[in-house]
Amino acid sequence: MFLMWFKRNEYITLVLYEPYMLLIFLYGSKKILNFMKRTKIKQACMSIAICFNNKDPKPWAETLRKKLPDVEVEIYPDIKDYETTTFALCWKADRDLLTRFPNLKVVQSVGASVDHILNYQTLSEDIILSRIVDDNLSADMFEFVLAGIMSHIKRFDNYGLYAKDQQWQPIPYKSIKDVTIGVLGLGKIGSYVASNLGALGFTVKGWSRTPKEIENTTCYFGEAGLRDVLQSTDILINILPYTKQTEDILNAKNLKQLNPEAYLINVGRGEHLVENDLLDLLESKYLFGALLDVFRTEPLPMDHPFWQHEKIKTTPHIAAITNVDSASEIVISNYRNLQEGKKLLNVVSIADGY
Ligand code: GLV
Repeated sequence: MFLMWFKRNEYITLVLYEPYMLLIFLYGSKKILNFMKRTKIKQACMSIAICFNNKDPKPWAETLRKKLPDVEVEIYPDIKDYETTTFALCWKADRDLLTRFPNLKVVQSVGASVDHILNYQTLSEDIILSRIVDDNLSADMFEFVLAGIMSHIKRFDNYGLYAKDQQWQPIPYKSIKDVTIGVLGLGKIGSYVASNLGALGFTVKGWSRTPKEIENTTCYFGEAGLRDVLQSTDILINILPYTKQTEDILNAKNLKQLNPEAYLINVGRGEHLVENDLLDLLESKYLFGALLDVFRTEPLPMDHPFWQHEKIKTTPHIAAITNVDSASEIVISNYRNLQEGKKLLNVVSIADGY
């Protein structure tokens, strides 16, 4: 009716074009509605689940909630709806927990390693696995290892024992220039540790699965390369990732090849070390001592012989602790990259395990 109000030419224009405009309008609204619906579903489906054991999840939850105020960040087991989680942040999560999240897209380790995920979770093929690569981790690991080396070559442990009986007894010590260090594992952290020890004046020999070139370090690879490193090493530092190939690599056969009275520092994984072999080698004086930060069972069981052993120093897996502030930036970038369909940072090969 109201069309009658228009002048004749306007009337004709409207009669001709109105159905098209109406169609365009309806088509457009449908598109917009669908888009809004999709975006809403996408947003609703993008919550982050923090799945930790042996680590306090609260600092992570607080930091992520502050930096991502629009995102639902939940701490397992308080998960409202498993279907909406697309991003899981993990540290030693319960075995197969991740299969409960049907729409999971990314599994993010909050450490440099992923063995705590690969050995305990069943990941479908389309899951993206990522880890933390952070200069803070490399720097902390270097400092820890350096403290262990210096305390060993200057014999601080012996003086600690002597002091108990008020013994004033000088012991010969070693200088940096006289010490050869073997570094097993030349990934991000291992290569940083090796090159920085080399820069201090130690002779450093590094070993990895594939050939590498690292400053201040002579690099070796493969089985023959491992022999070459072990046979000239005074202090062996293990920073390997834990895989089927590296399990038990710190065994009697390998450790017996080290220089007499060698020292072992294990900051890789407990599973690298054959514990009884270490006890036997210390007993038979093949090895001088060991500094161990990682163990097959953590926390180290109360009755474990390592606790009281005079030649073993233990620390509770603290060599390089993830810095929540800097590492959360990596997590946030990855979360955003997932949303925007971009490539994620620090993706790990599920097949290779590192
Ligand atoms: C520590 O062990 C880590 O994996 O970052």
